[in-house]
Amino acid sequence: MCGIVGYIGDRDCVPIIIEGLKRLEYRGYDSAGIAVLSDGTKEVIKTKGKVSELEAEVAKQGLAGKMGIGHTRWATHGVPNQLNAHPHFNQEKTLFLIHNGIIENYSELKNKLIKKGYSFYSETDSEVVVNLIDRYIKKGRDLAAAVKYALNKIDGTYGLAVMYENEPDKIVVARKGSPLVLGIGEGEYYIASDVNALIAYTQHVVYLNDDEIAEITKDSFTVRTITDEEIQHEILKVEMTEDEITKSGYPHFMLKEIMEQPLSIENSMRGRFITDEGIVKLGGLIGYEDRIARSKRIILSACGTSWHAALVGEYMLEEFTGIPVEVEYASEFRYRNPIVGEDDTVFFISQSGETADTLAAMREAKRKGALALGICNVVGSSIARESEAGVYIHAGPEIGVASTKAFTSQLVVLSLITILIARKRNMDFEIGVELIENLKALPQKVEEILKLNDEIEKIAEHYVNSNNFLYLGRGYNFPVALEGALKLKEISYIHAEGYPAAEMKHGPIALIDENMPTVFIAPKDAVYDKILSNIEEVKARKGKIIAIAHVDDTRIDELVDHVIKIPECHYLFQPILNVIPLQILAYHIAVKKGLNVDQPRNLAKSVTVE
Ligand code: AGP
Ligand code: GLU
Repeated sequence: MCGIVGYIGDRDCVPIIIEGLKRLEYRGYDSAGIAVLSDGTKEVIKTKGKVSELEAEVAKQGLAGKMGIGHTRWATHGVPNQLNAHPHFNQEKTLFLIHNGIIENYSELKNKLIKKGYSFYSETDSEVVVNLIDRYIKKGRDLAAAVKYALNKIDGTYGLAVMYENEPDKIVVARKGSPLVLGIGEGEYYIASDVNALIAYTQHVVYLNDDEIAEITKDSFTVRTITDEEIQHEILKVEMTEDEITKSGYPHFMLKEIMEQPLSIENSMRGRFITDEGIVKLGGLIGYEDRIARSKRIILSACGTSWHAALVGEYMLEEFTGIPVEVEYASEFRYRNPIVGEDDTVFFISQSGETADTLAAMREAKRKGALALGICNVVGSSIARESEAGVYIHAGPEIGVASTKAFTSQLVVLSLITILIARKRNMDFEIGVELIENLKALPQKVEEILKLNDEIEKIAEHYVNSNNFLYLGRGYNFPVALEGALKLKEISYIHAEGYPAAEMKHGPIALIDENMPTVFIAPKDAVYDKILSNIEEVKARKGKIIAIAHVDDTRIDELVDHVIKIPECHYLFQPILNVIPLQILAYHIAVKKGLNVDQPRNLAKSVTVE
């Protein structure tokens, strides 16, 4: 979850590392630290709180040097404080380590090390690793070998980087289950847990695989597996611009990403249609279409917002392809010994492509012989690389912790997959054309919705002090209700629940009183009249009502307190439009509460721990 950055070369590493950590802060932001080891400088600075605190401390102390490592933490073991912040070091302060992940057998290792005379200053699992490496060095190993021996003793996940005073010209890095990428410069190398930290300096990168250890000097790098096999990696070029990862004048990444949706949605479908034939082309699935179309079952597995996209995908795929579809939380799928095999296609949906639960579920599905496919945003991410094939959603970098544009792009890609497979099975040419035309019209409709920003901001003012919210929708819009509720919870810390509207009377209706706002997703579709009845039921109990309705709907006006009117579209794509006002509403409520919407408490952008 955390952010890792390192540099070795002839320049001052400190501004590079601080800048890189700021770019990664969305991955973890409870504390941060930096260690520099070069030309007689040996210094570790750690601070509680955001990278800006670290930056101020570093400036105060005037730290500089040509080799260093930095970390922004998302605590798993031990409270966020200065002592628990990374880098961690051994007792003599000769070895420095940053770690992303969890060492599952840390307490057993810690006890053994304590018996050998080691003492610990932090509560973290990571401190055990630095002392284990120290132990192998004291047994006569060099740094790279000591790292290898230590990792052989470790159960769990890691992306880590280590520096050692007695080998002052190198950084050793390793990965298992947590991402790690090397940036290739001229006479200099960078290390990061995410390419965002590097692209201001280089576009050339090498993605390490699990169980690999790399030794990096300023002039070269070598990669070996944990079993000592040398690996030659291809150097890849990253197509990402700096503008894509800055706020470009917006107060928050979340708002920027909400506002980018006309373009991100367009990018998700660009070049993927043959409109007059009513068919879809997805380069990443070429050669797999028939196998998917012949599947006895499709499973969609994901976490969080991506899981909500999967629920919409279930409705779409089942209705239009006729193949039974199941949706599974990745975290449940991996542990419950699922019955899955060669006749199944499993799509793993993940913005980051690094979510530990989703990655592990994918490995499980592969092991059982299913066709494991990825739907990812981050190019080169673990799920994208390890899946048999897949589709990128091309939403562009998403930095705000609350996922917005990735969700709508996931829905676009699931729509494309639906058309692709349904056209291979039983969908008529005309329906294919109709759906494609409707998809193409979406970016313009999204533009219209974004113009409602000020209007929604005014509605938000009424709800800043609410403690609870209910979100209700039916059919394709039930997952939108879940997603609307999640957005509000994540960034405003207001308790919110999403339900299928008809379920309200089976329980949640007990919560309704004059203090309880309910958000209804009420497009004019087959269940419109039923939704109006549900609205009446809430109104009869004096609940406050916000509705998302279609532009020409006047019936709803007198029933609700606030209505947000949006353009109509084919019912299949309504979730893509309906979620946008909910994103904007959550955003404004959180901003008005004075909260940091880009970095909500306790959360991290990609959850690389279980
Ligand atoms: C979304 O707003 C959340 N922060 C979170 O639920 C997220 O969707 C989830 O962690 C899955 O992430 P992924 O798509 O990167 O796998
Ligand atoms: N498990 C480590 C800790 O709690 C690393 C957490 C992280 O990935 O930020 O410090």
